[in-house]
Amino acid sequence: MIILDGKIASQSIKEQLKTEVSAIVNTGKRPPHLAAILVGNNGASETYVASKVKNCKEIGFASTLIRFEDTVEEAKLLETIHQLNNNKTVDGILVQLPLPKHISEQKVIEAINPKKDVDGFHPVNVGKLVQGLQTFISATPYGIMLMLEHFNIETKGKHAVVIGRSNIVGRPMSILLSSNIKKGNCTVTICHSHTPNLSEICLQADIIVAALGKPEFVKANMVKQGAIVIDVGITRVADATAKKGFKLKGDVAYAEVSPKTFAITPVPGGVGLMTTAGLLKNTLQAYLNNND
Ligand code: GUN
Repeated sequence: MIILDGKIASQSIKEQLKTEVSAIVNTGKRPPHLAAILVGNNGASETYVASKVKNCKEIGFASTLIRFEDTVEEAKLLETIHQLNNNKTVDGILVQLPLPKHISEQKVIEAINPKKDVDGFHPVNVGKLVQGLQTFISATPYGIMLMLEHFNIETKGKHAVVIGRSNIVGRPMSILLSSNIKKGNCTVTICHSHTPNLSEICLQADIIVAALGKPEFVKANMVKQGAIVIDVGITRVADATAKKGFKLKGDVAYAEVSPKTFAITPVPGGVGLMTTAGLLKNTLQAYLNNND
C-alpha cells in the first residue's frame, strides 16, 4: 500500500516554486503577492489562513492578511475586495470561507476579479474549467491532481467515485477526473446525500474521493480491494486526551480501509497540504498572467 504523503508532494512543489520566485526576484522584479481576507475567529479558518501566509513566506511570495470582526458589513468586505482588485501589486485574492450568515458568499466570490481569483471559485473560472480552458482550478481539487501526478497514479479508464458535490471540492473534482487531461480520463460517478445505494457504487470504484465532511464515513466494506482512496475530510472531533481538545478525522475510516487499498491519503498530512500547494501555484500563475 502506498501512502500518498502530502508533505512529500507539497514540499517538492514548494521547492519548484521557490526556485521560480527567486529567478524572478533576481531579475529585479517584485515577487508574487497573495492577499488573504479572514472574517471572524473560526478556529479551523484561522489555522488554514495562517498556514497559507506562512507558506507564502517560505517560498518568497509577498502576502497580506486582512482581518475583520465577524460583525463586518458585507459592503465593507466588498469595498476591500474592490480595492485589492485595483491594486496592481496584488496578484491573488482569497476570502476564507465560510463567512458569517449575514454576508452573501456568492456576492463576495463574484466581487473578486476572475484574473485574481486564485481560489478558482468565480463562476467565470468554474465555467472555463468545465470547458477545459486554462483557468484557476479550485485549490483542493488542483492539489489532488498534483498529488496524483507526483505519485504517478494511473487514472485513465478508471471508475472514479466522488462523494460530495460542493462547489469547492466535489463538483470541480468530478470535472477534472472526467476531463481529457493528465490524471483525468476517468469515468466519474458523483454521489451525494440523496444517493440511495452509495455503498454499492463505492464498491465499484477504482478511485474514491471522499469529500462529504462526515468523519470516518467510508468503511472497509465500501471499498474494493486495490482501490485508490483520496480523503478530503478534515473534521475536528472532540477528544479529551488530545492536547488541543480535538483530533482531526478524515472522511475515511483509515485503520480499516487502508489495508485494502493500493494507495491512500492520510489525515492529517494528505490532501490538506496539497490545497496550499495548489493555491501557491495559482498565485504564481496569476502573477505571470498579469505581468507579461
Ligand atoms: N474554506 C474551505 N476550503 C477553502 C478554500 O480552499 N479556500 C477558501 N477561500 N476557503 C475555504
